[in-house]
Amino acid sequence: MTLLVLYFLISFLSHTRTEAAATYVHHKCPNTTTFTTNSTYQSNLNNLLTYLSSNATRNIEFYNATAGNSVDTVYGLFLCRGDLPAYTCQSCIADATKDIVQRCPTERLAVGWYDECMLHYSDQYFFGSTVTDPYRILRNTLNISDQTGFDQVVRPKLSGLASGIINLSTGAKKFGTNRANFTALKYVYTLVQCTPDLSGYDCTGCLRLAIQKLPSGNRGGRVLFPSCIARFEFHPFYLTGNTSAPPPMPVPPPTTPTGANTITAKAQT
Ligand SMILES: *[C@@H]1O[C@H](CO)[C@@H](O)[C@H](O)[C@H]1NC(C)=O
Ligand SMILES: *[C@@H]1O[C@H](CO)[C@@H](O)[C@H](O)[C@H]1NC(C)=O
Ligand SMILES: *[C@@H]1O[C@H](CO)[C@@H](O)[C@H](O)[C@H]1NC(C)=O
Ligand SMILES: *[C@@H]1O[C@H](CO)[C@@H](O)[C@H](O)[C@H]1NC(C)=O
Ligand SMILES: *[C@@H]1O[C@H](CO)[C@@H](O)[C@H](O)[C@H]1NC(C)=O
Ligand SMILES: *[C@@H]1O[C@H](CO)[C@@H](O)[C@H](O)[C@H]1NC(C)=O
Ligand SMILES: *[C@@H]1O[C@H](CO)[C@@H](O)[C@H](O)[C@H]1NC(C)=O
Ligand SMILES: *[C@@H]1O[C@H](CO)[C@@H](O)[C@H](O)[C@H]1NC(C)=O
Repeated sequence: MTLLVLYFLISFLSHTRTEAAATYVHHKCPNTTTFTTNSTYQSNLNNLLTYLSSNATRNIEFYNATAGNSVDTVYGLFLCRGDLPAYTCQSCIADATKDIVQRCPTERLAVGWYDECMLHYSDQYFFGSTVTDPYRILRNTLNISDQTGFDQVVRPKLSGLASGIINLSTGAKKFGTNRANFTALKYVYTLVQCTPDLSGYDCTGCLRLAIQKLPSGNRGGRVLFPSCIARFEFHPFYLTGNTSAPPPMPVPPPTTPTGANTITAKAQT
């Protein structure tokens, strides 16, 4: 009986883990500029998404592509979270390219943020530029008990990660994580990442803006820009140690819910 329960528990856990290729977090696609069904823009967009998903199989974390020419050109890129192995990246992009067109069926510009990757396309050239609009701020529903800890630990750790990137060259991977003692009994985990097409200087600037916008009174939060992401949680949400043999994501304590469905979104735009 116990073994049977254990069997179902294990198969349930391994099932949910393999299913979680692209964990949806949020998307933005302003309906102010749209395209019509079967238009040249739509076929260019389809080609772009194929370029992105097929290039993701080349074991790369970032790729930018262009489809079409003149007025119907579509520019797009994907970025995977810097700690993930290539196969997770691939399946996230495979899922995300399908998911985004369901959520944004006729919009020319879209950004999709997933736990494992992000996708961004537009009819305007944006490669190499800091894009901070559209954006989203997400916060954990639970309040932080120690408010000063945010200012004394979380913000400085994130700022340190952001500053550490400033001299990196355009094209270089721009990703950092940190685990710090929030209190003697509790760790806080922080993460920053920019699209590599930004210069180190622009990445740091983008992250500083993101860190300013982070909610300070919650047990976790993230600021999602198209060009950069800053996040903190009180449970590990990125892989630590060797990525060649990723350990399972630790189950967070019950007081600290994880995942997109347990953080409430608060629109700031
Ligand atoms: C665009 O979005 C706004 C706000 O969500 C909505 O009120 C409006 O009806 C939408 N317009 C179209 C053409 O879908
Ligand atoms: C789009 O093209 C498909 C296949 O060619 C066709 O079945 C569909 O009716 C077209 N839709 C519109 C709105 O033109
Ligand atoms: C990558 O994308 C380019 C277009 O940007 C395309 O020509 C190429 O075939 C793709 N490569 C792979 C391996 O899919
Ligand atoms: C990718 O972006 C760079 C600028 O960051 C640009 O020079 C290059 O042409 C882009 N590649 C494609 C395939 O659009
Ligand atoms: C968090 O704090 C806010 C403002 O102080 C309060 O309105 C809210 O009820 C608190 N939420 C929880 C879950 O304690
Ligand atoms: C970046 O370069 C400047 C000038 O060389 C140097 O003073 C600074 O310490 C460097 N910062 C990092 C984080 O490497
Ligand atoms: C950080 O937390 C660990 C585990 O509770 C503790 O052993 C260590 O002394 C703490 N470090 C600092 C600098 O407070
Ligand atoms: C990580 O991998 C390296 C080389 O692949 C190995 O030497 C090291 O022991 C590994 N560390 C852990 C914690 O497994």
